[in-house]
Amino acid sequence: MIHGHITAWVLALILFVVALLLHKGGKAKGFKIVQMILRVLYLLILATGIGLLFSVYKIDVWYILKAVVGIWIIGLFEMILGRVANNRRTSVFWIQFIIAWILVLYLGFEKLPMSFLNP
Ligand code: HEM
Repeated sequence: MIHGHITAWVLALILFVVALLLHKGGKAKGFKIVQMILRVLYLLILATGIGLLFSVYKIDVWYILKAVVGIWIIGLFEMILGRVANNRRTSVFWIQFIIAWILVLYLGFEKLPMSFLNP
């Protein structure tokens, strides 16, 4: 479950960058396709994340926070790509993006116990 979760969000992050590059290159059709694939990945991230939550013996506030920040990141992926597609400002969302990633990596790898880094 944890590996599926990590695979899903790593893939999503890569495709997010691919989508931004496609947009920069003026490839609107490619951008749309990658955006669609990303939406499927969001569901996978959510499903594996919820699966992980269910495998936790006692859910505390850090798990809730981890889940909320995870959902926040998914929202930001979607917001940033949506606004980029319409050529609107994204700076406010990029700031959130950086904060949310720092939080999620800290919570996921450091704070919460199920790390694949220290099994
Ligand atoms: C893009 C969004 C997300 C990112 C980048 C992310 C990142 C991570 C990372 C880095 C870990 C730790 C993996 C490890 O320790 O080996 C993790 C674990 C976890 N994630 Fe996510 N996650 C995201 C979305 C979600 C969502 C939406 C949920 C729940 C609805 C969720 C729930 C969990 C749970 C319960 C764990 C296990 C925590 C533990 O005990 O170590 N995640 N995630």
